[in-house]
Amino acid sequence: MSGSTIIPWVVGNWKMNPIQADATQLIQQFKTLLTQSTIDSDACHIGIAPTLIALDRTHQALSSAPCKVYTVAQDVSRFAGTGAYTGETSAELLVDSQIQHVLIGHSERRDLLGDSVEILKAKLHNALQAGMTIIYCVGESLEQREQGLAEQVVLQQICDIASVVNDEQWSKQVVIAYEPIWAIGTGKTASPQDAQAMHAKIREGLCQMTAHGARIALLYGGSVKPENAVELAACPDINGALVGGASLNAQSFYQIAQAFAQSKQ
Ligand code: 13P
Repeated sequence: MSGSTIIPWVVGNWKMNPIQADATQLIQQFKTLLTQSTIDSDACHIGIAPTLIALDRTHQALSSAPCKVYTVAQDVSRFAGTGAYTGETSAELLVDSQIQHVLIGHSERRDLLGDSVEILKAKLHNALQAGMTIIYCVGESLEQREQGLAEQVVLQQICDIASVVNDEQWSKQVVIAYEPIWAIGTGKTASPQDAQAMHAKIREGLCQMTAHGARIALLYGGSVKPENAVELAACPDINGALVGGASLNAQSFYQIAQAFAQSKQ
């Protein structure tokens, strides 16, 4: 089943980058490119996920962008509301600061920062309850791919969250990002054929879980750059990109957004 009528998303995940002065410049450059552009915000949802400390600043700076650019949190607490949780930021506090979008389940958080399935489910539940839109990340390691387990691993990661997402939330508040771990920051991209094949499997799995499966946006992430964006965007079940390194360059990020906005028109 094809999701080709879905409005694409292009989201820049800045990870633990850049310093404040560079971030200010990057946003300014990106806004200037948007001023000159033909990207219609109805044709492509664009988002930038800065560090926690830069969320508010980024949100303010993007409020004067010529088209809507969402500020996306890179993470959210597993704890809800307010309380004695040192270092944590809840979904309610993000929403209170006008941050409505959040990444959950990035492989760097799963592998380096101890986000277990139970923790991810708590984060997801709280963010959904607070009305946020979630970009839920899945993806297999190189070892898992070489053992022929890629599909199984990814579909399991999707099934992991089934019990905390209801049908209405699937339709309005969830985007999936497939990021094969071996393609993240390595310069190696999954071929458009391999990425499309996995996206088709994810879509099939989603369609079994929810009546809205055919309309959920599926983003690809892992060394997306202007050079491969057009080809990836042409795949019927690739409805956008989650971009790391290339989103730290305004021109590259803009070109990727343009590739997706144009391909899905
Ligand atoms: P790169 O685009 O740098 O490979 O990072 C992908 C990613 O992890 C986005 O979340």
